[in-house]
Formats: sequence, structure tokens, C-alpha cells
Amino acid sequence: MMDNAKTSSFKPPVTVALTGASGAQYGLRLIDVLVSAGHEVWVMISKAAHMVIATETEVTLPAQPDRLAAALSERSGAAAGQIRCFGREDWMAPVASGSGAASAMVICPCSTGTLSAVATGASNNLIERAADVAIKERRTLVMVPRESPFSAIHLEHMLTLSRLGTVILPAAPGFYHRPQSIDDLIDFVVARILNQLRIDHQLMPRWGEDQSSVSKTKDG
Ligand SMILES: Cc1cc2nc3c(=O)[nH]c(=O)nc-3n(C[C@H](O)[C@H](O)[C@H](O)COP(=O)(O)O)c2cc1C
Repeated sequence: MMDNAKTSSFKPPVTVALTGASGAQYGLRLIDVLVSAGHEVWVMISKAAHMVIATETEVTLPAQPDRLAAALSERSGAAAGQIRCFGREDWMAPVASGSGAASAMVICPCSTGTLSAVATGASNNLIERAADVAIKERRTLVMVPRESPFSAIHLEHMLTLSRLGTVILPAAPGFYHRPQSIDDLIDFVVARILNQLRIDHQLMPRWGEDQSSVSKTKDG
């Protein structure tokens, strides 16, 4: 049984939505690290994101929310009830309302379609509605868009959202930490998301920190 939010012994929930931009690995890694850090994680995965995950990774995920929660839990070693998943039109989910929503939401990766929908308040599916709630309630909302090049439409949407307090954190890893692997590039972006959420991590040193003080563990 996945529903234990009222008696949860986990750290506060973080909502993570994966949409259909390239970079599914960022979102999947973020879920794993949040689980390792002891947070409850509320997950939504768009239909297009399922296609991207199937294209870009070896991960097979079912669409049905309870089965998805079970699959993600097995992947990340989550405790029972630590990961909850919500469907596209599950309007009764806590994220659909200001009274139930988590204090932080991350859309990672964020497609330009979802970017547009959130910027205009469309709320046509639960991901868009949850982001709309986060904005109206002035909660932390981090969006990780990936497109190249960006059009003026994308840039205007990002500016609109940034002015509303949303953190626009592009999936644009740096190279100054001398990445040795794709995992290092993924962790660069995930570390920045965790910084925005004020969640401590050991993924990589902060600028000015002694490199040797950070173990390069893959368990967060
Ligand atoms: C393999 C694949 C890669 C894609 N990459 C991107 C991308 O990097 N950025 C983007 O904005 N859309 C990308 N798309 C297109 C989106 O998935 C599409 O616009 C979709 O409608 C987004 O829906 P969603 O926002 O509900 O997930 C990609 C689609 C596929 C199948």
C-alpha cells in the first residue's frame, strides 16, 4: 500500500515531474537521490516522457501509477510508501490543491510544451496543474528545460516564469569539474537542483570547496 502520507516518517515530500524533453536520466537520478536523502517523493511522468525514457534509457516503467510507484521504488531502493505516483488526470491527488501540495516541485526534464502550458496557466493535466498551484501558492518551483536552440517563444515563457519566482535551471552541465562519465554530467545538473531545494548532497563539491572532501558516491 503506497498511501501513508498522513503518518509519513520520511522527510518532507518533493514533487518530481518528468516530461517529454530529452534528459530523462536527470529526472530519474533526482528521484533516486531524493529517496536516498530520506524524502518522500511524489512522481508524475507524462506520456511523452515515457517515450523518451524508453528511447534514452534501459529503464522500463509502467504507466499505471501504483505499478509505476512499485517499479521506481524497486529501482531506487525506496521504502514502502516513500514514492507515490499520480496519473495524468488524478485531480484528487494532493498536488492538485494548494492545501495538499508539497512545498517544492521540480519539472525535470521540462519540455517546451509543458513550459508553455505552465507559463500560460493551462492546467490541462496534473503536472501543469501542480505547477500552477506551486506558482499561486508561491512555493519552490524548479523547471529544467531542454531544447536547442531556444526560440523567442521558449525564451519569453522562461522570462515570464522567472519573473513569477520559478527557477529556470536549464539542463546545461558545465565541464569545469572535469567530468569522467555521463553520470558526472547528470550529477552536475541534479546537484544544482538539490541546491535550489536546499537539500544537502555529496554529488559534487560546491565552488571553492576542497575536492577531496567530497566522496564521489553514486548514492547521493
Ligand atoms: C525522443 C524524444 C525526444 C524529445 N526531446 C525533446 C526535447 O529535448 N525538448 C522538448 O521540448 N521536446 C522534446 N520532445 C518532444 C516532446 O516530447 C513533445 O513536445 C511532447 O508533446 C511534450 O509533452 P509533455 O510536455 O506533456 O511531456 C521529444 C520527444 C521525443 C519522443
